[in-house]
Formats: sequence, structure tokens, C-alpha cells
Amino acid sequence: MADFLNYPEGFLWGVATSSYQIEGAWNEDGKGMSIWDTFSHTKGKIADGSTGDVACDHYHRWQEDIALMKQMGVNAYRLSVSWPRVLPRGRGTVNPKGLDFYDELVDGLLEAGIAPFVTLYHWDLPQALQDIGGWTSRDVACYFADYTAALAHRLGDRVTHWATHNEPWVAAWLGYGWGEHAPGIRSAACALQVAHHLLLSHGMAVEVLRDLSNPEAQVGIVLNLANVHPASDRQEDLAASRRAEGFHNRWFLEPLFAGSYPQDMSEWYGAQLPEVRPGDMSCISRRVDFLGVNYYTRGIVKSNPEGGPLQLEHVRVEDSEHTEMGWEVYPQGLYELLVKVQQDYNPPALYVTENGAAFADEVTPDGKVQDDRRIAYLQNHLLQAHRAAQEGVPLKGYFAWSLLDNFEWAHGYTKRFGLVHVDFTTQRRIVKDSGWWYRRVIAENGVELQPV
Ligand code: FCB
Repeated sequence: MADFLNYPEGFLWGVATSSYQIEGAWNEDGKGMSIWDTFSHTKGKIADGSTGDVACDHYHRWQEDIALMKQMGVNAYRLSVSWPRVLPRGRGTVNPKGLDFYDELVDGLLEAGIAPFVTLYHWDLPQALQDIGGWTSRDVACYFADYTAALAHRLGDRVTHWATHNEPWVAAWLGYGWGEHAPGIRSAACALQVAHHLLLSHGMAVEVLRDLSNPEAQVGIVLNLANVHPASDRQEDLAASRRAEGFHNRWFLEPLFAGSYPQDMSEWYGAQLPEVRPGDMSCISRRVDFLGVNYYTRGIVKSNPEGGPLQLEHVRVEDSEHTEMGWEVYPQGLYELLVKVQQDYNPPALYVTENGAAFADEVTPDGKVQDDRRIAYLQNHLLQAHRAAQEGVPLKGYFAWSLLDNFEWAHGYTKRFGLVHVDFTTQRRIVKDSGWWYRRVIAENGVELQPV
């Protein structure tokens, strides 16, 4: 008999997705264009030249996808809403069919006994708002609050978990700082202003959700926190590692939980600092009910005066296992991160809102996907999450990224993260071995002690 480490009762076991990565139906039923439609339709932006026009066709196949989740036994589903499906121009008139889609999806989930965990923004900004400056414009934060109100009005009686943003660091830096994501802008000053407006819009949305949704509703935000290790204990490397950590983590955690930007990083950014108006910081630091943490890998950092504005570089550990993304597999980092965040910021609750791995899966002739490496990845991370929970981290749930293989942003369809395999030609779904393995974890409410 295997030994299981059990999670607390009521633990949420989920899978996560996002709208642009799975829905498809990019121009159906009144949906407006998003910046990801524009970006993926621009030549040279996506590795395999693909788009999210069809993706997993989830817009038409959501019932089948709920049935898959039911088969796996998940009790929560983290999804995101496409803002331009609900408000085609980002503001003004609501598209009733867009709202109906999410309304039916939420009802379908509840009927299946699956709690909807709704993210308001997972990067698909309405193109019409990009046309007025996107997140560099402060007005967009106000439109985000109005969009939140439209959703809360319609879904707030049934949705009990809301995340305002997914990974504002990625939206700001990959989208506006380095141009690797939509809208493809390259300016550090823009990225910092965008990060401020994302945080500001988060605070505004928290207030809207408190006013308009179920009083029981849990409201929070999802961050991609980096687990940074210095390459050595040389003074320069320690300082570089602290900068990397300030850049990725503290720049977001401190405004949210302490109401200020970190002093050391403000000095570092100097002239590029964003415009902050009186009252902004108290809006950003409104109390949240939870912090969602997305964790995939760690970073090892060493000082390098030539290494870009942060004067550092990342070191690759050759002996470690790496996923198809080139990310080091480092399960202990999840434990380290959860414990550190709790010690430093003490959020009332924590969720692992994304964790998973891309591997080059293959379908066997008898129609199976034997993804043992993914099972090992997930199991070892769950053991580390359990360890953190045992040490007092208020961990309330875990979401595997992802339910389905999907459109992995600038990598297109070349990276498969799903617990369910998708054939993008036929849209046939196959639950991978990892999906069946996860079903057992959920049924036992725990993870097998023996690391794989
Ligand atoms: C995260 C994103 C998610 C997915 C995973 C692999 O940064 O939130 O959409 O792309 O990475």
C-alpha cells in the first residue's frame, strides 16, 4: 500500500487555462479584436506562425471540456475571461453573447461540482484600448474597473473566487518592455508605467468586486514569482540576485502588501519611474483574500556589468533536468518560495495558481500519452507544496497548468503543457497518463509519499 501525504479538507484541486490560449472563435458572436489577435496575425511574432483563431476550440467544445474535468475529478477550474468578448471595444456597450458564454460556462461548472476560479485579465486586452495607448494610459485602469463591474453583475452571485490579474510582470515586461508578447512594445519606461496601471486597476477591481459580488467571494491576484538564487556568495552576485528578486517579485509584492515601491529598485530605475498619483498606493494595497503564485522554475543569477539594465545574467545548471521550455526542474523552489512569501508578506491565503511542465508528448499507437516525466514533475512539486503547508503556509489549493495543450503565446503550439492532449487538426482530446494520475491524487486528497 502506498503512503499518501494528505492535504487539508476542502483543498481546491484544479486545472488552469486562459481565454486566448484555448477559446478560439476569435471573431465570432460579436467578439472584438484583442491585442493577441493583432500580434499573432503579425508575421514573425509567433514561433510556428500560428494564431489563437481556433486554438482548442473551447468556445464550442466547453461542454466536452467540463466532462473531461469531471472525469479527472477536479473540484476547481481556473479560467480567464476575454475582455473583448464581453466588451468588444473595451468599454461602452456590452456584447450579450459574450457574457452569455461565461454565464453558461459557470453554470455548467457548478452543475459538475467544479468551483469556477475566474481571472479577469490574462493578457488579451481589447485592441480598441491599445489604440488609445493600452496599459500605458491611466484611463485603461478605469475601463478595467467598469469591465469588472459588468462581470460581477452577471456572475457575482455564483463565482466565489476572483483573481484580478495574471502575472502583471509578464504583461508589463514581455508585452511593453521587451516586445516578445502583445502589444510588442520595447520600452522599459513604458513597462514600468504599465506595471503601475495594472496594479492600480487591480486595486480598483478589488473594490468593485467587494461591492458587487457575493459577500463570501474571495478576491486576489496572481503573480509569477521568481525563486532567485545567487550564483555564489560573492558580494556582486548577492546584490545581483537581490536586484533580480526586486525586479520580479518585490516590485509587485510590496505595493500590494505594504503600499509602497521598494526603495532600492526605485533608485535603480531612476528616471524611468512611473507617474504615481496621490492615493494610488492605498488603492493598490487594498486588502486581498489571497495571493495566487505561479511557479515553474528557479533562476540562478550572477552579476554582469554588461548584462543589460539590471547588470546581471542567468546561469544554466547543466546537470539539472530541463523541460521543453528550457526551464530547470527544481521542485524545492516551490517550497522555498511559498515559505518566503508567507514570512515576508503574510497573505491571508495562498494558492498555487499554475504549476506544470512542457514535454514533447507523443500519442502511442493505442491512443495513450505516457508522460511519466510530467507525472514526476507534478508529484515532486506537490510534495514540496505539502511541506510548505505543514510548516504553516496557508495553502488552500493547487492548479495544474494546464487542462489542455494549448496556444503557448509566442511559442504557438510547439509546447505542450496539458494533462489532456489535443490534436490541433481534429480537436480530439486524450487524457494523458498525468491526467489519470492527477485523478488519483484528487481522490486521495493527497500525494504519494515516494517521490518519482
Ligand atoms: C505562464 C502563463 C500561462 C502559461 C504558462 C506556461 O506564465 O500565465 O498562460 O503560458 O506560463
